[in-house]
Amino acid sequence: MKLFMDTANVAQVAEVAGWGILDGVTTNPSLVAKEGKDFQQTVLEMCKHVPNVSAQVTATDFEGMKKQGDEYAGWHKNIVVKVPMTVEGLKALTYFKSKNIRTNTTLIFSVPQAILAAKAGASIISPFIGRLDDAGEDGMALIEEIMDVWMNYDFETEVLVASTRHPRHIVDAARLGAHIATMPYDLFKKLPLHPLTDSGLKKFQEDWEKVQPKAA
Ligand code: G3P
Repeated sequence: MKLFMDTANVAQVAEVAGWGILDGVTTNPSLVAKEGKDFQQTVLEMCKHVPNVSAQVTATDFEGMKKQGDEYAGWHKNIVVKVPMTVEGLKALTYFKSKNIRTNTTLIFSVPQAILAAKAGASIISPFIGRLDDAGEDGMALIEEIMDVWMNYDFETEVLVASTRHPRHIVDAARLGAHIATMPYDLFKKLPLHPLTDSGLKKFQEDWEKVQPKAA
């Protein structure tokens, strides 16, 4: 399972990349706007730390997506062009596939959308589970259905569980065999923690100190 960070903050990426377990970064226009930094510079800095950095097009028409995606892909080999799940987006996915440019299809909320994006040649699809939960639906049920469908065919498209909110989302995504999960920095920071690890380590250290020779 690959773990990505959902952020446009380079320092957060550098920190968690230092743990040795970070496989990629997903950005979106909202995250980039929040940081207020230059988009190209941000993306290129992230490419120094991870082999996959999703950079989202902001155009909504095919020609505009094509122009932006071609430009992003030219910046660095680690860039994955992120395209919204629309009919224009499907045309763009088909085009980028023909050019061997990697893509991530964003704003996936249904199985038919997932299938269309895979057929258009998306490298990755991103179903947003937290936003479905927020709307009173069951986001993880969508992942389960998509993974069921993926079992029936030989789609090369990887399923990236996006809009995760808590550690259980990561556990459930892994149990379903999703290829990738992306999560915000704060969620990443929770994953290594368990109170029994902390108390167990404290006890080991205390017991060890008890048998150390005292300084004269
Ligand atoms: O980047 C896509 C997705 O992960 C957004 O998450 O928290 O804004 O629903 P969120």
